[in-house]
Amino acid sequence: MLIVANWKAYVDDFTKAKRLVSTAKRLSRTSKNSMVLAPSGPFIGALAPGNKSTIAFAAQDVSLSTGGAQTGEVTAGMYAVLGATYAIIGHSERRALGDTDSIVAEKLARALAHGLTPILCVGEHERDGEGRYLSIPREQITSALRMLTVKERSKVIIAYEPLWAIGKSAIDAIRPNDLAEIVLYIRKVLAELLPGKSSSRSIILYGGSVEPGNIRELARNGGVNGFLIGHATVDSETFTELVKQLS
Ligand code: PGA
Repeated sequence: MLIVANWKAYVDDFTKAKRLVSTAKRLSRTSKNSMVLAPSGPFIGALAPGNKSTIAFAAQDVSLSTGGAQTGEVTAGMYAVLGATYAIIGHSERRALGDTDSIVAEKLARALAHGLTPILCVGEHERDGEGRYLSIPREQITSALRMLTVKERSKVIIAYEPLWAIGKSAIDAIRPNDLAEIVLYIRKVLAELLPGKSSSRSIILYGGSVEPGNIRELARNGGVNGFLIGHATVDSETFTELVKQLS
């Protein structure tokens, strides 16, 4: 399983950030799961360089900019230089701040151009009765991958994150059976974009109120290859419990 810890802007205390990294490194020595940490940009700059452990680092977003006179922008290339190897793209919290499908597609291309593995977030606002909960992820995936080469498409990790389940508690997360259905559907969408049977190798994550109380069941019956987890990863004890539940 791949566990991606999205710290969002929760961790603004550097001592805490270092403690969380030590916890992840300690866990990685005995866990068979792969771990990716996504601190804020400045903290990646302080934590990722020189990292020799098996844990990897992800940018929480990358700029559309490729550099130049653009005050405040942090480009994919800058993250790559620091040692990030993944980039979360199109998170719903970024989409809410203006990232349209076409911006998301361009950001994917920027990340790939600098060797970052993109984690493309998709998901609907509500689980309606008219099937929009399927068509929204389909449209988001298709528009994001369409402009990429087949080789690039096969590198993209999909994180299915329904907005109605983000930032709540385990009881509000998706049920494992419903997740399994959507994961199958997403693989079908990917099969239309990738040659032969290669979509069966695509990595699909789930995110939205994953906690120690539901991660095991979602892993067993949800059909996913891992998780993109927010609030439950920014406390060392809860994070340790999450990882233990998967071993
Ligand atoms: P959450 O966030 O685990 O706090 O629900 C997940 C995410 O937004 O990536």
